Amino acid sequence: MSLTQSNYTQAPPALPNAMVIFGAGGDLTRRKLIPALFHLCDAGLLPDSFAVLGVGRRDMDDDAFRDLMAEQIRDHVGNAFDRSVWERLVAHLHYMQMDISEGADYERLRERLSELDTQRGTAGNYLFYMAVPPSLFTRVTGCLGAAGLLRETEHDWRRIVVEKPFGRDLESAAALNRALHGNLDEQQIYRIDHYLGKETVQNIVVFRFANGFIEPLWNRHHIDHVQLTVAESVGVEHRGGYYEEAGALRDMIPNHLLVLLGFIAMEPPNSFESGAMREEVNKVLDAIEPLSSEDVLTRAVRGQYGEGAMPDGEQVRAYRASPGVDLRSPTETFAALKLTMDNWRWAGVPFYLRTGKRLAAQRTEIAIRFKQAPTVLFKNTDVEQVAPNTLVLRIQPAEGIHMSFDAKVPGPTMRVGTVNMDFCYQDYFGNRPATGYETLIYDCMNGDATLYKHADTIEKGWEIVQSVMDVWAALPPRDFPNYAAGTWGPTAAGDLLGNDGRLWRGIETPDT
Ligand code: BG6
Repeated sequence: MSLTQSNYTQAPPALPNAMVIFGAGGDLTRRKLIPALFHLCDAGLLPDSFAVLGVGRRDMDDDAFRDLMAEQIRDHVGNAFDRSVWERLVAHLHYMQMDISEGADYERLRERLSELDTQRGTAGNYLFYMAVPPSLFTRVTGCLGAAGLLRETEHDWRRIVVEKPFGRDLESAAALNRALHGNLDEQQIYRIDHYLGKETVQNIVVFRFANGFIEPLWNRHHIDHVQLTVAESVGVEHRGGYYEEAGALRDMIPNHLLVLLGFIAMEPPNSFESGAMREEVNKVLDAIEPLSSEDVLTRAVRGQYGEGAMPDGEQVRAYRASPGVDLRSPTETFAALKLTMDNWRWAGVPFYLRTGKRLAAQRTEIAIRFKQAPTVLFKNTDVEQVAPNTLVLRIQPAEGIHMSFDAKVPGPTMRVGTVNMDFCYQDYFGNRPATGYETLIYDCMNGDATLYKHADTIEKGWEIVQSVMDVWAALPPRDFPNYAAGTWGPTAAGDLLGNDGRLWRGIETPDT
């Protein structure tokens, strides 16, 4: 059973296993993985027969590793911190120093895991989590394979979890997939896209398919266009080195934004089973019309932030002044695309995607703009126009669903105004602290790959943006920085919709 089909209180603990974290001294381990395990432990979802084996270069024993993790857990779980839960979890944490690019060290890893099997009852089930740079994925899996640590029997399983980025273009992603397949079967590979772990992203599917009134309207006959926004107010912080290589497009669009698009646009799957969901998402990706080089010039927009003032008044530096960033960097911190699909449901309906750093608000949402109603009823009245309805799925923050519609303004004359209906998750389901990794880790321990990405989904994502990357690389930007921090991106992003007679939804005034 997966948390996608159940809820925290009804789900049973995961299957016995040892979770090996490569890169245990890194940021991801402290900020996401250990806090996610804390939440799972709190919810009674970790098995008794469980061990975490942190692996890294630093020389430490189990106690030093436990102390290191304890130092920061409070910061990362906030008010959810509970000493008794931490004490339960910390007893399962172990550490081993090794050079992960050194094949000979894997013999020691095998011995240590087999000791843990005996001490902890982890039954030979190993989850290898790659919290290391992608350049090491192939080497580590090669060494694991050579040490016999990836061989499954009918009594135990071996799985690896890989974090994005999965390559930096179609070719490198395909090469990475081939390299992984040299040592692993596809069903042993769990590729994380943390957007799939977000409850509100999973809820898109439930909202669409569990409510009978939605589906009849969810098509080109009733929907004018869709806007997908992942706006971040943060800058690149200390990730300049990574971001210089990635940029907004690579960092967000072929992965996170296409996850949102896939769920919004897919046909009803036959079940929540991983194959069924993936097949439908892949059909959406296949239906997206490729952008030619000319299309890129008119349907893709890039931007980079200069210095500016954030809405809270904070003055922030330009991207080019961030640590690890070239003073003349051509890397984009904002990207917007107009995509269309060639299928029966969506032909002619534009999907506008935008994402960026240092924008005026931190907001991830999907806005569905319905077609305008005919105005014949209102002839000979004061009403000149009725506003089209908008349905907004708010992913974060303030997760919820918002609908705007027209209503009569009370009074003797006919006047129409836009009113809003708002549903907030927190009001109904409370605020359960989570990192977004809980469901994903739990599902992997149980062999449920529904919320993980298959090799072909990754490659299709890169295919969709490949022409944009090619054109942008061939034509370095001349106008960077072209938006001030704290604004909504370059003017050209507005023109992308403006040229079609449309407007981005005013996110700064979320009720419009
Ligand atoms: C990551 C990107 O994958 O997603 C980051 O590398 C980005 O640049 C982050 O900030 C956004 O995730 P979330 O969950 O904060 O929307």
